[in-house]
Amino acid sequence: MKALAGRFRPKVMLCVAGALLASAATAADPWPRAVNPAPRNPALDARVHAIVAGMTLEQKVGQMTQADIRSVTPDEVRRYYIGSILNGGGAWPSMNMHSSVDDWLKLSDAFYRASMSTDMKVKVPVIWGTDAVHGHNNVYGATLFPHNIGLGAAHDPALVGRIGRATASQVRATGITWAFAPTLAVVQNPRWGRTYESYSSNPELVRDYGEAMVRGLQGQLGSPTSVLATAKHWLGDGGTFHGKDQGETRTSEANLAATHAAGYYGALMANVQTVMVSYSSFTDTASGKHWGKMHGNAHLIGDVLKRRLGFDGLVVSDWNGIEQVPGCTKWHCPQAINAGIDLVMVPDDWKKFIGTTIADVRTGRIKMSRIDDAVSRIVRVKLESGLFDSSPATGQHPDATVMHSPEVRMLAREAVRKSLVLLKNDHGVLPLRRTGKVLVVGKGAASLPMQAGGWSLTWQGDNTKTSDYPNADTLLSALRKTIGAGNVDYSPDGKVADLGGYSAIVMVAAENPYAEGAGDISFPRSVRHTSRYPADLAALTRVSGKGVPVVTLLFSGRPVAANDLINRSDAFIAAWLPGTEGMGLADMLVAGPDGLPAFAFTGRLPFDWPAGDCLAKKGGIQFRRGYGLTLGSRSTLGRLPEAQPVMACPVESR
Ligand code: GLC
Repeated sequence: MKALAGRFRPKVMLCVAGALLASAATAADPWPRAVNPAPRNPALDARVHAIVAGMTLEQKVGQMTQADIRSVTPDEVRRYYIGSILNGGGAWPSMNMHSSVDDWLKLSDAFYRASMSTDMKVKVPVIWGTDAVHGHNNVYGATLFPHNIGLGAAHDPALVGRIGRATASQVRATGITWAFAPTLAVVQNPRWGRTYESYSSNPELVRDYGEAMVRGLQGQLGSPTSVLATAKHWLGDGGTFHGKDQGETRTSEANLAATHAAGYYGALMANVQTVMVSYSSFTDTASGKHWGKMHGNAHLIGDVLKRRLGFDGLVVSDWNGIEQVPGCTKWHCPQAINAGIDLVMVPDDWKKFIGTTIADVRTGRIKMSRIDDAVSRIVRVKLESGLFDSSPATGQHPDATVMHSPEVRMLAREAVRKSLVLLKNDHGVLPLRRTGKVLVVGKGAASLPMQAGGWSLTWQGDNTKTSDYPNADTLLSALRKTIGAGNVDYSPDGKVADLGGYSAIVMVAAENPYAEGAGDISFPRSVRHTSRYPADLAALTRVSGKGVPVVTLLFSGRPVAANDLINRSDAFIAAWLPGTEGMGLADMLVAGPDGLPAFAFTGRLPFDWPAGDCLAKKGGIQFRRGYGLTLGSRSTLGRLPEAQPVMACPVESR
C-alpha cells in the first residue's frame, strides 16, 4: 500500500497492484484534498501585492501575454509590457538553427533588458519558456536524452531526476529560465502522435516521475541552475478517443482524478510552478456532461487545480489553444481567462489579444479581480524564479560546456541503456562478440533524426540531417567506434549478395520523426509498423533466415504491432527514441572486452505492446506492460501470429 505523503494526503489513495484507487473518494468528489499546501510566505505575498497594485491595466494585461520570438521584438516587449516569450519548435535566434549558445544568451539579454526598461513603477522581467522535453532539444549541439517513453521503460525515478538537473543546466546556459516539461499524460492508446512524450500508461509511475522531473528541473528555485517546470497538459490529454490528438477524453471524473491527474500529484508535491492546459476536451461518462475544451473548463482549472489541489503557480494556455473554446479566436477569449488561465500563449496575435482583453475588463466581461489574481500568480512565479534579482543572461549561469559535456553524454548514454527493452532472445545471440564482422541494415541505423524523433532542433524533428547533430552517434557510428569501422558494413536496404562473412546482422527499423497530431495513427489505419514502413520489412526479409543471426532494434515513438519483424529476428529490442547517444545502443549490443555482457537489459515495457490492430480485443496484446527479458532469460516466442488487417478489429472501446 502506498499513500501519497507530504503535501497531499487524499482521503486514502491506495496503490493496489499498480492500479491507483482513491478508496475513500466518492464519484461525486474524486479529488484528493491539498492538506498541507506549500507554506505561504507573507513577505513574498506582500511584495507581490505591492507590485501589482502599482500596475496599470495595460501593464497587467501585458504581463498575461506570451509571444513567440518570431513575432515580437525586444522593443515591443518594452512598449507593451509583455510578460513572457517562447521559442516554439523551430524558432532560434535570427532563425538560424545552428545558433551558438552565445547567440541564445545575447537574445535573452536583449529581451530581458527591454523588459527592465519599461515605465512601470516596479519593472517586471520578461520570462522565456522553451520546450526542453528531452534535453535542450532546440539548441544545435546539445545532448538529447531519450524521449519520455524510453525513460518510462527504465523504471528509474532517480535517473529522471538527474536528467532534469542536467536539462535545467543546459537551459540556463542559454539564458532561459522556464522549461515546458514534463508532459504528464498517462497515455491509453498508442495511436496518439504524442505517445512518446508520455512516460507510461501506469499512473503510479507517472506520478513518481512527475515529482522526480519537477524536482530535477526546479532544483533550488532562484538558483543559477534552476528552471521553472511545467506540468502538462491539464487534463486528460493522453486519454482521448482513439488517441486522437486534441480529441475528446471520454471518461469519468473519478478516472480523470485517479489516472490522468496522477502525475500532477507528484508535480504539485515538488512545488511545480506552472501548469499548461490541454487542447483536449472532456466528456464525463459518469454524468454524461460534455464539458468541452479544457481551455474553457473553469471547474477543472479553477475549482479543482487551483482551489482543491491548492496550485498557487501560474496556468498557461497552449499554443493558440484559446481559439478552440467556442466563440473564441486566437486573440480573444474572456471565457479562457475567466476559467482560470493566467498567461495566454498567443504567439503571433499578441497585440490584438492585449487590445481585446483590456476592452473585456473595461466592459466587465473579465473582472479586475481575475486579472489581479492572474498577474499576482505571474509576478510571484517570477519572484520565486530569481528573475527580479539578476539577468538570466548576464547573471550567474552554467557555461556552454554543459550542452554536451562528457558528464551529460554519459548520463544520456546510461539512460539509453536503461531504456532498451529486450522483447525476444530466442537463441541467446546477444551480446555480439567484438571480433566478428557485422552488417548493419536499415535507414534508421544512420539517421540521427529518426533516432532522436520529434522536438529535435525543429518541432517535427524533420528538415534536419545527421550532420546537424555534431555531438552525437548514430547506431552505425557507435558500432564502428566500438568494434572498428573495418568490421562494420552498412546496407540501408539489405541488398547484399553474400552474407557469409558476417557474424551477425544488426537491423534498425524506424519511424520518420513527428510531433503532435502529425504523428497520429488515425483509426482505423493500422498500427502495424510495416503498414507505414514496408521498406523495413523488405530489408529485414532480405537478410533474415540466411544462417546469420539477426538482431533488430525498433526506433519508435510508441509500441507498434511488429510480429512480422519479430518473427524475422533472433533478438528484438524496443529502443524507442534514444536521442543523440547511440553509444548506449552499442553498449547493449556488443560484449565487453572480456567477452561477457558489459551491461544487463533492465528495461521493461511502460505500455502494453500490440499483437495487431486491435489492442482492445482478446489476444490484442502481444506483451503486457512490465514485460522485458534479461540476457539470462531466453525467450521461446517461436513464430508469432502476423497481424490481421484492421477490419478484423471491433470498434475500440476508447
Ligand atoms: C505545442 C504543445 C505544447 C508546447 C507548446 C509550445 O503545441 O502542445 O506541449 O509546449 O506548443 O511549443
